[in-house]
Amino acid sequence: MKMTLIKDMLRLRAESQEVCVRGWVRTKRDLKNLVFIDVNDGSCFHNIQCTFDRESGLKADIENELNKVSTGASVEIKGKLVPSPASGQAVEVAANEITVIGEAPVDVYPLQKKRHSFEFLREIAHLRARTNTFGAVARVGNKLAFGVHEFFQKNGFHYVHAPIITTSDAEGAGSMFQVTTLDMEALSKSGKPVDYTKDFFGKPSFLTVSGQLEAETYATALSRVYTFGPTFRAENSNTTRHLAEFWMIEPEAAFYHLEDNMDLAEDFLKFLFEKVLKESAEDLNFFEAHVQKGIIETLESLVKSKFVHLTYTDAVKELEKNKDAFEFKPFWGCDLQSEHEKFLTEKVIGGPVIVTDYPKEIKAFYMKQNDDGKTVRAMDVLVPRLGEIIGGSEREERYDVLEQRIKELGMNPKDYWWYMDLRRFGTVPHSGFGLGFERLILYVTGMTNIRDVIPYPRAVGQADF
Ligand code: 4AD
Ligand code: MG
Repeated sequence: MKMTLIKDMLRLRAESQEVCVRGWVRTKRDLKNLVFIDVNDGSCFHNIQCTFDRESGLKADIENELNKVSTGASVEIKGKLVPSPASGQAVEVAANEITVIGEAPVDVYPLQKKRHSFEFLREIAHLRARTNTFGAVARVGNKLAFGVHEFFQKNGFHYVHAPIITTSDAEGAGSMFQVTTLDMEALSKSGKPVDYTKDFFGKPSFLTVSGQLEAETYATALSRVYTFGPTFRAENSNTTRHLAEFWMIEPEAAFYHLEDNMDLAEDFLKFLFEKVLKESAEDLNFFEAHVQKGIIETLESLVKSKFVHLTYTDAVKELEKNKDAFEFKPFWGCDLQSEHEKFLTEKVIGGPVIVTDYPKEIKAFYMKQNDDGKTVRAMDVLVPRLGEIIGGSEREERYDVLEQRIKELGMNPKDYWWYMDLRRFGTVPHSGFGLGFERLILYVTGMTNIRDVIPYPRAVGQADF
């Protein structure tokens, strides 16, 4: 018999065809003459109901198997697909055969309740994909990842892989995980200084915080590229929107100025929102009903909206008018805190806003400087509930200006010689941005903790599994 996923089975017309259901039991209800087993295989949100009718004369060994069935068990059930009298499902399986492949004993299988807290489920990350919420998060994540490629491929962007191990600090923020094969324990006992020439790469090396610098090298050859890969930050920030390991999508485009970059970011987000609204409706309905009321309407209105543009200077003026609302008092030159970002997008604008032209002191070395000598062509896209979802900029394409800035920041231009070469040979204006993939999933699903939208969260003190 052909293997059929439940999502396809539920779409079949019930013409008494034989089907074989394979998956994990969500619930079993044993009534006098009827046994109902709801099976889920993760192919879609819905379960398929398999009904065993004792009055139709079940084989003796079936009762034996039915006794082994409990929530979490893996089963293979065969029967006929028939119209369902129950509400909420067009078809069900009139079952006549069942094999329990793997039992999940009630006294030890942890997923027994209808709803477990997310905190509890974080402790059993290896099983949480079997719940409604985490199954839905995974399917929406899959849809979004596919959508990322779809959007860029349609728009002439080439997919490139940036290296994961690097010797340069792309953001200049110094929060990198070191990669070494040196024997740290022996070294610390010896009391000698570390000789990095003996290390695997011959110098201190790290996990990348961003693929941007390498993406720039390809954008200045292929015009439009994007990366989509894991990035690592050793920030000690224990928040609901930071991970130590997260995936980032970074488009980079030659001949793009900040305005083009802003339009690209807006079109990109709208494309993704529209895609999940259309193609993940079942999962979104679940989030709407059980996780974040109003999420569907929010996404729908966002697709129709025009993102507001606001300079940092104007943003700070707005914040200063409402000083009392904040723990960190805003002032020109301050880094915008999450509370400021949320206030701007939720209270001042009431929708997405792109804040531009930040003070150069609070932004990375590579951003293009404005003529005022104080600000850079940076852009952060802020959305309600979350704050920053995208960070990007036009890049400094003038050799002298970039070199000067690198020196001012106490960095060594020699470490960035290859990056400087892009400005020495055939330099062009160019821009790009980074979208945190998990922040995107957070936003779309209405989930509140970023640790619940990545299969295995890595954060301070958390890397077990
Ligand atoms: O603003 P960030 O630091 O920008 C960059 O890394 C640039 N190199 C991007 C570029 O221009 N190509 O990070 C970009 C985005 C943020 O807006 C946020 O969505 C996400 O990455 N992000 C994180 N997501 C989860 N955990 C963290 N610790 C994150 N740090 C940044
Ligand atoms: Mg940022």
